[in-house]
Amino acid sequence: MDSTQQTNPFLTRGENARKVLQRDPNPHIFRPIAFRSITARNRIVVSPMCQYSATDGVPNDWHFQHLASRAVGGAGLVFTEVTHVEPRGRITPYCLGLWNDEQVAEFRRITKFIKEQGALAGIQLGHAGRKGSTGRACDGGKPLTRNEGGWEVIAPSAIPYGDGHLMPVEMDQATIREVLQAFSESARRAREAGFQVLELHAAHGYLIHQFLSPISNQRKDNYGGSFENRIRFALEAVDATRSEWPSELPLFVRISATDWIDGGWDLESSVELSRILKAGRQVDLIDCSSAALSPMQKLTIYPGYQVPFAAAVRNQAGIPTGAVGLIHSADMAELILARGDADLIFLGRAMLADPYWPIHAAKTLRANYTWPWQYERGDVY
Ligand SMILES: Cc1cc2nc3c(=O)[nH]c(=O)nc-3n(C[C@H](O)[C@H](O)[C@H](O)COP(=O)(O)O)c2cc1C
Repeated sequence: MDSTQQTNPFLTRGENARKVLQRDPNPHIFRPIAFRSITARNRIVVSPMCQYSATDGVPNDWHFQHLASRAVGGAGLVFTEVTHVEPRGRITPYCLGLWNDEQVAEFRRITKFIKEQGALAGIQLGHAGRKGSTGRACDGGKPLTRNEGGWEVIAPSAIPYGDGHLMPVEMDQATIREVLQAFSESARRAREAGFQVLELHAAHGYLIHQFLSPISNQRKDNYGGSFENRIRFALEAVDATRSEWPSELPLFVRISATDWIDGGWDLESSVELSRILKAGRQVDLIDCSSAALSPMQKLTIYPGYQVPFAAAVRNQAGIPTGAVGLIHSADMAELILARGDADLIFLGRAMLADPYWPIHAAKTLRANYTWPWQYERGDVY
């Protein structure tokens, strides 16, 4: 168990907590932040969230309204849900993808609107690996067989996610090259679609994470075994993506900082990987999530439970981080930034509940805020 898990910093009443209660006239959460050539108007990020609403990977009106309304609501950076680099890499048949020009055209409509609202447009790219070919949670979330519209899934090793899950095909060198090429081509399409931030999904038990963790990666070649070998695919995915992603635009990586499994990927490995990603100067921020590699995980969750990971990576690897996970209140978000635990706050469910979270947070923290002029008369709370 990680030592960072042992105390909940949000239950302490330190100096920073008192400062927040005294209301900083210039709250950290509303301070702009620059990454390479672009600047976010504030530190509030719409975390990637699957909508399971696409047909053939193409975004539609649902995706438009989901992302557009959160840009209208004042977020600094709006991320798409995980968008897959090839059809085989989808979690469900209803996931978004970026492997053809029709998808590019529909995404362009969305990025244009997000940017017109003053937010940055971000895309999360990923590949589900052995966690692909499943039904939507609302349909029971079970693995799909071929007869049910499922497909063959791939992974670093032929080890299923858990009992009753699909047996993946172990990727050979040619398949590894093919998937890396898909990352590279999707990065090019992301640029063509007008995105300004690209995040690689290396967390939550999906393909890149499957290579990182010794639980899911038991290869005998140069992609398995030692730490250096297990991180090889992640580094190659970063390289493949960067090769088509402009050097003036930022690249983020979302990691699961720990598997929450003895003998699995852990915080120490995450810090070391982050150091390497920073040293290569290709990656601008590590978005620190955790878990979801295997049903063997054991964790207790509480408000801000993943913040210590963002703090450890930020302080020990010296790279900007994003904090995510059960951060619901403006005060907590402000405290995390004021303590220097993270540089950005990613909000998931709170953003689903309230697209205007940033405006409401500004009111709570007594910071300046503006509604879009069309909505000024809605300032009633
Ligand atoms: C409906 C839903 C869909 C999600 N889809 C993704 C996703 O596509 N990519 C990802 O990295 N995380 C995904 N997540 C995780 C969130 O980005 C976030 O890390 C998590 O919900 C914890 O933050 P929260 O407590 O603010 O919701 C999803 C979460 C939810 C609730």
